[in-house]
Amino acid sequence: MDYSDFFSERSKLLSSSFIRDILQAAKQPGVISLAGGLPDPDTFPIEKLMEIHNEVGKKKEVYQYDVTSGYRPLREELLKFLEKRGISASLDELVVTTGSQQGLFSLALLLLNRGDVAYVEHPTFVGALMPFKLFGAKSMDILNIEGIPIDENGMDVDVLEEKLRKVEEPPKFVYTIPTFQNPGGVVMSIDRRKKLLDLAHEYNFSIVEDDPYGEIRFTDDVPPSIKSMDNEGRVIYLGTFSKMLAPGFRVAFTVAPKEITEKIIVSKQAMDLHTATYGQAVIAEFMSRGFLEEHISFLREFYKKKRDALLNAMDIYFNKDVVKWVKPKGGLFTWIEVEGLNTMMISGRSAVEKYKVAIVPGAAFYLSKDEGLNMARVNYSYPSIDELHTGVKRLAYAIEMERSRGDNSSVMV
Ligand SMILES: Cc1ncc(COP(=O)(O)O)c(C=O)c1O
Repeated sequence: MDYSDFFSERSKLLSSSFIRDILQAAKQPGVISLAGGLPDPDTFPIEKLMEIHNEVGKKKEVYQYDVTSGYRPLREELLKFLEKRGISASLDELVVTTGSQQGLFSLALLLLNRGDVAYVEHPTFVGALMPFKLFGAKSMDILNIEGIPIDENGMDVDVLEEKLRKVEEPPKFVYTIPTFQNPGGVVMSIDRRKKLLDLAHEYNFSIVEDDPYGEIRFTDDVPPSIKSMDNEGRVIYLGTFSKMLAPGFRVAFTVAPKEITEKIIVSKQAMDLHTATYGQAVIAEFMSRGFLEEHISFLREFYKKKRDALLNAMDIYFNKDVVKWVKPKGGLFTWIEVEGLNTMMISGRSAVEKYKVAIVPGAAFYLSKDEGLNMARVNYSYPSIDELHTGVKRLAYAIEMERSRGDNSSVMV
């Protein structure tokens, strides 16, 4: 049967990101991948989890359907966890989702009519663009997503303000990853966080604060979450266990005013009824034994060593007149800018085969494929320290070779 005439108009907005192709190429033997965003599997606290499995696995309730909002002991643990981080919420303001990706999907479904505009940081997390397109786009060509540039202090809220002054309709929401941005690796300054809240009040839009990386910090000098400064219920906050424990659990959480969480619950009932009970029960026990805070401290040390190894290698091998890079204070990525080189030249399949190193070209994180051409995202969480060293050495060589081949600014991506 030929299904091509059966697909919905909406489904035509779905396309696989070319990051997937790069990740595929990066799996070839001998290639060092600085492309993905995976946690290091050596961080998974398997022994402690096995200990918990032995106990939790005896409880009948963990094999049962549960309420959509999430396994109650986990939600209770999460409220305590968030309280310590300055976010006060009640049980009905928190819903557990199947990854924060599901939170993003639900929010897009609930908040965006076709033709409604969402603002995002530019560059941004590609996984957020997909649901925003799916629900907001007027057509394949008019996506109704607009980018606000970032710099070393996160989203440029002056540009946002300028734009808000000019447009007839404010966006439905502004999506931000203020702490250790993906892909930019930067942190939004406290002043900008405050200004964003002020603008949201003045122009009446909500803020979607996506915070998967906030716990992985190598310094205490990081501003509080925007949610913790919000006293109007304007911020919808997404957190996840994917990076602070293990992504295979697919357990995340959204904190928002009850009006929103109630709707997320109904949308989840249409999607998957509820997030798998077993994983939630294991995490609840992991938290109640105090293991999560310990684990987070361990992760900070662990990834700091990798961050340092990466920066050290960049310092050794990169030509500083050509390459500039962000020195991340947390998270899993850095962001580089290479003068006079379209980074597709060093990240396509043939380049990966040739140079045996993979990165994600900047264009992958922009709304139009002719932006971010000189940029690239470099991951340091997954490779070993030795691989980081060799990977950066290979990257420096690839940059040098491809730059010496002359003008490549018109390479199509
Ligand atoms: C900014 C951002 N948001 C959301 C996600 C999705 O996380 P989860 O595994 O909880 O679905 C990711 C994953 O890499 C991410 O980088």
